[in-house]
Amino acid sequence: MDHTELRKAIACMPKTELHLHIEGTLEAPLALQLASRNNVSLPWNTLEELEKQYDFSNLQSFLDLYYILMGTLKTQEDFADLMFAYLQRAHENGIRHAEIFFDPQVHMNNHIPFSTVIKGLLNGLDLGKQAFGITGGLILCIIRDMPVESAEAVLKEAEPYAKDLIGIGLDSAEVGYPPELFEAVYRKARQLGLHCVAHAGEEGPADYVKQALDVLHVERIDHGIHAYDDPELVQRLAQEQIPLTSCPLSNKRLKVVNDIRELPLHEMLQAGLRVCINSDDPAYFGGYLVDNYMALLENGYSLEECATFARNSIEACFISREEKDTLLADFDKWYEQYVK
Ligand code: HPA
Ligand code: ZN
Repeated sequence: MDHTELRKAIACMPKTELHLHIEGTLEAPLALQLASRNNVSLPWNTLEELEKQYDFSNLQSFLDLYYILMGTLKTQEDFADLMFAYLQRAHENGIRHAEIFFDPQVHMNNHIPFSTVIKGLLNGLDLGKQAFGITGGLILCIIRDMPVESAEAVLKEAEPYAKDLIGIGLDSAEVGYPPELFEAVYRKARQLGLHCVAHAGEEGPADYVKQALDVLHVERIDHGIHAYDDPELVQRLAQEQIPLTSCPLSNKRLKVVNDIRELPLHEMLQAGLRVCINSDDPAYFGGYLVDNYMALLENGYSLEECATFARNSIEACFISREEKDTLLADFDKWYEQYVK
């Protein structure tokens, strides 16, 4: 297959997205529009000036811009529109189901009520389900470099909406903010019936991945690249089939690695780890999910390996066995046509 045919094949491959920050889908032109509509003043007035800010040196340099642009989101409609726009893109990327992060503590700091944020996002999800048949839901992410009391407060706000949430996650600046800080928050989330995931091993060490498993009892690790530094942990992740939601373009843009070829994803697949591919913050990192798969294909990964990532993305969802089997049946048809 040539490049165009490969791209088409990847775009129609049935898959899910499990590591996607909805605020990370806020494209620069929309951020400027929202700033003007909502009377938010930004340090940059033109698209040209804003676009110069996307040359990141590490996770923090990205977060600095990400949090500023989040300040342009104000109304329930803004959140609904953002979600609907993502689901449209997701549909074009062959995504059948998405479990989507949001960062309510940042919006609450911007004086947006929790209810405005969640009602807007849920409304956008409903509209996307109707329009594109995509299923999915929300994972409330705790900002790990804000005080633990703030995490406790947002969980309290979320309690009445617990049935509308899939789970709880942990994101933002990793180093210096180990998972164990959030033991009580995660205990409370489990009592509310939420699934548990956490970003770990993006910039932080393998030990943070272990803490996420042992102290927070997470069912999935977001990123987890540095888990590969610890052979014993690799063995455990394989044995327990803990999914890792890897984000290649993100890792490259935030300089977790210098080059896609430095990511240990061949080795992780070989070791039997349940790795899947995701776009993280596609408006910031130069591409949506198909672009992430294409970056892998251009850097030594085979279509067979890409198929394994997609199959893993279906197995790693928080949906019923029956729903997984329905998606897998479609995946198998695709595999039969494009790989076998
Ligand atoms: N890592 C940590 N925090 C984040 C990310 C990420 O990739 N995206 C949005 N918040
Ligand atoms: Zn992330």
